[in-house]
Amino acid sequence: MNRRKFLSIMGVGGVSSFMPLGMARCFAQQPTATSLSSAITQPQKIALGDPVSNYQFPDNFLWGAATSAYQIEGAAAEDGRKPSVWDTFSAVPGHIKDNSTGAVACNHYHLYKTDVKLMAELGIKHYRFSISWPRIIPDGRGAVNEKGVDFYKRLVDTLHQYGITPHATLFHWDSPQALENLYGSWRSREMASDFGSYAYAIVSRLGSSITDWITLNEIPSFTHLGYGVNTSPPLAPGTRVKTYKEVWQTSHNALLAHGLGCQAIRAASRRPCTVALVDNTSVTVPITESEADVAAAKKAFPVSWLNGGIIYPALTGAYSPAMLEKLGADAPDIHSGDLKTIHQPLDWLGFNVYTGVYVRAADNQQGYEFLDFPKSYPTIYIPWLYMLPESIYWGISHISDTLGRKDLPVYITENGCPAQDELNAKGEVIDSDRILYLRQYLKSAHRALSQGYPLKGYFLWSLMDNFEWAWGYERRFGITYIDYKTEKRLPKASFHWYAECIRQKRVV
Ligand code: FCB
Repeated sequence: MNRRKFLSIMGVGGVSSFMPLGMARCFAQQPTATSLSSAITQPQKIALGDPVSNYQFPDNFLWGAATSAYQIEGAAAEDGRKPSVWDTFSAVPGHIKDNSTGAVACNHYHLYKTDVKLMAELGIKHYRFSISWPRIIPDGRGAVNEKGVDFYKRLVDTLHQYGITPHATLFHWDSPQALENLYGSWRSREMASDFGSYAYAIVSRLGSSITDWITLNEIPSFTHLGYGVNTSPPLAPGTRVKTYKEVWQTSHNALLAHGLGCQAIRAASRRPCTVALVDNTSVTVPITESEADVAAAKKAFPVSWLNGGIIYPALTGAYSPAMLEKLGADAPDIHSGDLKTIHQPLDWLGFNVYTGVYVRAADNQQGYEFLDFPKSYPTIYIPWLYMLPESIYWGISHISDTLGRKDLPVYITENGCPAQDELNAKGEVIDSDRILYLRQYLKSAHRALSQGYPLKGYFLWSLMDNFEWAWGYERRFGITYIDYKTEKRLPKASFHWYAECIRQKRVV
């Protein structure tokens, strides 16, 4: 008998079913309701150590936070760094909502020690950041700028001093402007070999202190949203190509870069290391968990957004047949040997997850249909972020089962949300909306874990507020508030909440 049914038999169901637990407890202490009291207080009896109901994570689960170079570093013209496509793109009025750029951002380049201390306070033992290609090889190809390398040496040394393991992404969208000028960056296959050389240069210099590497962050975003025919808001370089085929060629070239990058990392590292790709796989979530809807979500997965043309070739060595059929003449040109280069062995997959799409079984040729979100569906302070916590569970399940890669460990490399953060009279930021979001998503991660899926860790996006691409500084994703005038860092309520999750290794 569930609690609601029990209460309705007692004649009080209508009152207690929406009564806050604290009030219900007072109610339960009334002399007339002895048996009611034991029913209502039942939740208290659940032992705090119960691993399932308390969302307890295993001891070896890795807790972290993530950032990226252009979004936090600033120092855009210092120590030999030359412009990236994001410097050029954001300098054009109208491209960024608040007409800002990442020229100063959080000034992490100078304040990295403060930021590492913050990580230690948070209790994370793992930090995901990215390395800026135009800081390391300012012209995109050719001479290495050792001063740029030195910055990351300083950063990584400081991380190690605090017992924090660095997880470095080699490319998080800030490609050298010089290569855009030279051959249109991702439009050319040359970009893949230049990326490979850059990867080799950085790993041969930093490979003794970094052993966890990620090639590229979110191929769909910097290719399809950067060159897309009709995307809005556009991302850098914002160079509109004329056909979808050309857009698909940019992501194919990026996949090649990933493949060559994996080879370069393994060739350059003198220590055993791990190599991964980070993808923002589009997650099909069954509207109900009926057998039919679950089957529909699986069937729709390869053709959802770009999955069949990005994560499929990377993890299975082939574009999905359903995707190729859907693309027809828009499919990219694939040279012989390309898929072999792309399909490198990976040590793990990084999964960036914010939202998903509902699918249900349908009486049509495909057997499924994608469902639009209703107008009143909750989003979290940015139009694309539909609250859909189950996307963590279903994303991991699709990677393991639908794609057939049960063997592949998964890390959530980004998850988080923006909020309308404001300082209250006490000078605090109480972002309970962000906590609400994170709590639900972590519970969904826990569900995947408790069913035995190989989820190994979680990096929250983001350690601090930063330059949110086309949204500039207007959207804050951090668990640390940045006062951009004073450059002060202020942990928000979500920071303290996450610290407690890490301390207790569970969703608190
Ligand atoms: C992801 C990006 C990251 C950040 C979050 C909100 O797509 O990888 O840089 O902008 O979205």
